[in-house]
Amino acid sequence: MKELTKFSEILNKKLEQSSFPLEPKGLYQPLDYFMRLGGKRLRPMLTLMGAEAFGLNPEKVAGPAIGIELFHNFTLIHDDIMDAAPLRRGKETVHKKWNLNTAILSGDVLFVDSIKKISEVESKHLPEVLALFLKTAQEVCEGQQWDMDFEERESVSESEYIKMIQFKTSVLLGCALQIGAIVAGASKEDAQHIYDFGLTLGTSFQIKDDLLDAFGDPEKFGKQVGGDILANKKTMLLIKALELANEEQRASLEKWIAKNDAPTEKINAIKELFEETGAKSSTQNA
Ligand code: IPE
Ligand code: IPE
Ligand code: MG
Ligand code: MG
Ligand code: MG
Repeated sequence: MKELTKFSEILNKKLEQSSFPLEPKGLYQPLDYFMRLGGKRLRPMLTLMGAEAFGLNPEKVAGPAIGIELFHNFTLIHDDIMDAAPLRRGKETVHKKWNLNTAILSGDVLFVDSIKKISEVESKHLPEVLALFLKTAQEVCEGQQWDMDFEERESVSESEYIKMIQFKTSVLLGCALQIGAIVAGASKEDAQHIYDFGLTLGTSFQIKDDLLDAFGDPEKFGKQVGGDILANKKTMLLIKALELANEEQRASLEKWIAKNDAPTEKINAIKELFEETGAKSSTQNA
C-alpha cells in the first residue's frame, strides 16, 4: 500500500506538470475533463513497477508512464463511441457531453500526445521503446476490431475470445511493464518475462471487467451496467452461457440476443441465464 502511494505521488506530480494547450478549446477542454476523471491509473503504475523491479528509480520513467496512461485514455474515448457508452468513471463520456466529432479528434490528438510522452526516454532506449509501443498500439486496434466484429457473430470460440481480449487489453499491460524494464536496462529475457506476466494479468483483468459489466455495483463501477449485454458483446459470460445452456436456455438466450427493444428486460433476463447456466461461476473461476 505504501508503495502504491509512492507511485501515485510520482504520477500525480508528472500529470500536474503536463497540461494541455489552451487553444483550440474545443479540442483540449474535453481532454482536460476526461483526464481529471481519474481512473485507477493501473497501467502507468505498472511502468513504474517495471522500472523499479530492475533497480531503476521509478521517477525516471514518469514520462513514458504518463504516455501509457494518455494512450489508454485515448482508447477509452474512442471505445466509448464504438460501444455507444453513456458513462465513464461515473461521468458522461466525451461523445455524449460534447459530440462525436469532438470525441474523434480529441482522441486523435491524445494519441499523438501519448507518443510524445512515451518518447521521453534516453535516446539509446528510444528505438526499442517506440517499436514496442507502436506494435502494441496497432494490436489494440486489431483487438478492438475483433471485439466489434464479434458483436455480429452468432458464435465465438473461447480461444478467439482470449485472442481478442489479449489484443484489445492485455498487450498494453505487458507493454507498460516492459517499457519500465527496458529503460531500467533489464536483459532481453527478463523484459520478455515481465511482458508475459503483464499479458496474463491483463487477460484476467479483462475477464473481471466482463463480469463487472454485468454484475458490478452501479455505484462503484462508473460505467453503464449491462452495456455489454445490450451490444451482444461476446464476453466470456456469453460464450460460456451458450456453451453450457440446455436446449430451453439456449432458445431463450437466442431470443434475447435478437431482441433490441426492451433494454432493461434484456439485461435482467440474460443475467439470469448467466447464473442459471453456470456461466457466471465458470467465468469467476477462469
Ligand atoms: C478500462 O480500463 C478498459 C478495459 C480494458 C477494461 P480500466 O478499468 O483500467 O479503466 P480506468 O482507467 O481505471 O478508468
Ligand atoms: C476496452 O474494452 C478495451 C479498450 C478500451 C481498448 P471494454 O469496451 O470492455 O472497456 P470498457 O468496459 O468500456 O471500459
Ligand atoms: Mg467499452
Ligand atoms: Mg469496447
Ligand atoms: Mg468492459
